[in-house]
Amino acid sequence: MDKFVIRGGKKLSGQVEISGAKNASLALMPASLLVSGNSKLYNTPELNDVYTMTKLLNHLGVKTNFENHVLELDSSNIISQDAPYEHVKKMRASVYVLGPLITKYGTARVSLPGGCAWGPRPINLHLEGLKKMGADIELNEGYIIAKAKRLKGARINFDVSSVGATGNILMAAALAKGTTIINNAALEPEISNLAEFLIKMGARINGINTSTLEIEGVDELHTAEIDTIPDRIEAGTILIAGALTHGNITIKNISNQHMNSVLSKLEDSGCNLNINNGLVSLGAAYNSIKSSDITTAIYPGFPTDMQAQWTAYMALAEGTSTVTDTIYLDRFKHVPELVRLGANITVNENSAVIKGVKKLTGAKVMSTDLRASASLVLAGLAAEGTTEVLRVYHLDRGYQKIEKKLLALGADIERVEGSEY
Ligand code: EPU
Repeated sequence: MDKFVIRGGKKLSGQVEISGAKNASLALMPASLLVSGNSKLYNTPELNDVYTMTKLLNHLGVKTNFENHVLELDSSNIISQDAPYEHVKKMRASVYVLGPLITKYGTARVSLPGGCAWGPRPINLHLEGLKKMGADIELNEGYIIAKAKRLKGARINFDVSSVGATGNILMAAALAKGTTIINNAALEPEISNLAEFLIKMGARINGINTSTLEIEGVDELHTAEIDTIPDRIEAGTILIAGALTHGNITIKNISNQHMNSVLSKLEDSGCNLNINNGLVSLGAAYNSIKSSDITTAIYPGFPTDMQAQWTAYMALAEGTSTVTDTIYLDRFKHVPELVRLGANITVNENSAVIKGVKKLTGAKVMSTDLRASASLVLAGLAAEGTTEVLRVYHLDRGYQKIEKKLLALGADIERVEGSEY
């Protein structure tokens, strides 16, 4: 297992390019199952979750070719509708194959994803939506067994706005008979990216970028190509690296309108931002960081996927701040590790109260999940001395070689391969 060794305290400066969005790729890739032939996804990030989804699609019969961030998926010869446990256990987003398989092939057997490192992550909304569309769904021996002659359009009201359920129903509805209306649909840009891709395939979708999506099913879709949107979470993580080290950095190839909540909070915390189309320059003008509370919310609110990184940032702010996660109530596995680096944070239910400290001090810390690991790397960049972040495979799931981007900005960070647990 690899680890990062970070010698903290270097001010970051320079420019980096942001990669394609992991969570967009994970929705776009299974959409290739809706057609027979070659789909092309541009700006696909090279990261482990993309490789895991590739392996699952290969298992179903999709042939893939991945070069220079262009992912080609040939779904002409699907040989299985079965997503086994050994694939799904590695990544919950594997459940995205359910909607396309049942709508195109009338059958799907998909392992139930189960919980994740920070608690339960139900998929009831995916299943209830498909049932409303006429699917016959059984749970048996840890698997979802879904069957339908042809799905039919339905009015689906989500009690909670869910990215995954919106994506799954959107893909299923594209080939259903009749019109599906999704109320309280997720507004996340990754879902809009998926909807645009489906439209390029010939799907009829109205209401993109609103919380009501109307999909008029068609009999067949055709192959298409699309650009994957930039990763707003990678972008936010790197901006915080600049802010925490009082640096001056520029990130390129972003959609700044996807990042309004994070950019505005960075300004509140004392950063100077120069925002242009596709580019943000951050200058941490002050030596002190102003404390600034956040509460995570669905898009366009502050993303839960930036909560851990913000917590690390506020650890070094002046005064006290509160970080509340309303999307996942127990997503605080990074806190005890940040405390090992000298942070003063207490967690009470779904809020962390952070009393800013003057400095963090390097130590060995353990990654527990993707965004928790990102927060530890950020803290390590700002800490005095050496921080070792163990188990960086969590980070490799969702960031494309983040150490290379940080090195390019002048960080002292090294990957040590095959080291201790
Ligand atoms: N929920 C339900 N029932 C469902 C589905 C969701 O109650 O059937 C609840 C969840 O428990 C949660 C909320 O709805 O409280 C939102 O969950 P959502 O379904 O939107 O999450 P997801 O689709 O499983 C995606 C991202 C996550 C990100 C969340 C929230 C992908 C592949 N994953 O997950 O990304 O945290 O949306 O924005 O798109 C990450 O990248 O680190 C990550 C975890």
